[in-house]
Amino acid sequence: MEALVYHGPGQKAWEEVPDPEITDEGDAIVRVDATTICGTDLHILAGDVPAVRPGRILGHEAVGTVDEVGDNVHRLSPGDRVLVSCISGCGSCQFCRQGRYGQCTEGGGWVLGHQIDGTQAEYVRVPYADTSTYRIPNGARDEEILMLADILPTGYEVGVLAGGVRPGDVVAVVGAGPVGLAAITCARLFSPSHVIAIDLSDTRLKAAREFGADVTVNDATEDAAAVIKDLTGRLGADVAIEAVGTPATFELAVRLARPGGRIANIGVHGRPAMLHLEDQWSRDITITTGLVDASSTPTLMRLVATGQLDAGRFVSHRFGLDEFEQAYDVFGDAASNGALKVVLTRQEGTD
Ligand SMILES: NC(=O)c1ccc[n+]([C@@H]2O[C@H](COP(=O)([O-])OP(=O)(O)OC[C@H]3O[C@@H](n4cnc5c(N)ncnc54)[C@H](O)[C@@H]3O)[C@@H](O)[C@H]2O)c1
Ligand SMILES: [Zn+2]
Ligand SMILES: [Zn+2]
Repeated sequence: MEALVYHGPGQKAWEEVPDPEITDEGDAIVRVDATTICGTDLHILAGDVPAVRPGRILGHEAVGTVDEVGDNVHRLSPGDRVLVSCISGCGSCQFCRQGRYGQCTEGGGWVLGHQIDGTQAEYVRVPYADTSTYRIPNGARDEEILMLADILPTGYEVGVLAGGVRPGDVVAVVGAGPVGLAAITCARLFSPSHVIAIDLSDTRLKAAREFGADVTVNDATEDAAAVIKDLTGRLGADVAIEAVGTPATFELAVRLARPGGRIANIGVHGRPAMLHLEDQWSRDITITTGLVDASSTPTLMRLVATGQLDAGRFVSHRFGLDEFEQAYDVFGDAASNGALKVVLTRQEGTD
């Protein structure tokens, strides 16, 4: 088969690789019908995630068709259409039993496109297939469901729920990439009084308005802290969500929160960020970090199915699977082309 292989920082190629095989009886082999690229893949290519070794097939999001199952897979059969979550869970370790699949101690968690080969390929081996995939509801479009593999649960769980967004809150979201936009759209479910989006790219800020931000700040030219202080009578945001993954944006998110406020870090960080305790020790703030668990996937699927969440609007560009290089170029240069999520789809008639 062909797959997108990481060859070290800044290097990747769509190339011929061996087909995946079942190595554990809980595995399924899934034919990838649609997949996408995450900001985390850009972090990997920037060298921020050294656990990803050269030779690894990237990708942790897919919608596909079950091709083969191990003897210990009971809920899936060949031909079933499934969402492959970015998080795999054994379903039985201490953390999985609390729904904290991201912290699975038995070889689950974020493994796809990280510790094992991922979904940016024609086929993928999915471990713990029974507890790491979701059936596609009838009538749902693949590309909508694909948004539930990572960005929507991430924005919802690691941003909105970890940040404890409540009705009336002022919510600041630093970074309006797909994950920040997911946090914005999920924050709106809780009737906040304001959602402020902060980004360096005007095209992404335009998207943020469409996804539910009522105030946007380009922090290349404007002072986000001053804008939020004006909006809140000098207090600051109730909840500041970091959805970029750089030291500067983490430090900004901490500065944006009001005394007693909450800072929810979503970004994947490859470098140390400064926590200015000399300024913050007395401000009663709470900082949360987290890897998504994807435990909210069934809830979010219901919200998408009933039209409470519009998942389809995250998709800005469409490619064939063999156009990965071009898709990475477009996703990596979102500021100039307005890209949000790029979807790569298997072409009909290919195996
Ligand atoms: N914690 C998790 O489980 C989890 C899951 C998925 C993604 N992530 C992380 O979430 C982050 C966002 O992912 P994405 O797919 O939206 O990425 P992305 O690269 O598409 O978006 C990042 C956005 O941040 C903006 N940005 C960069 N520097 C900025 C600055 N100084 N101020 C304001 N905005 C700035 C960019 O213009 C861009 O719009 C990444 O760090 C990704 O790795 C974390
Ligand atoms: Zn991701
Ligand atoms: Zn587990």
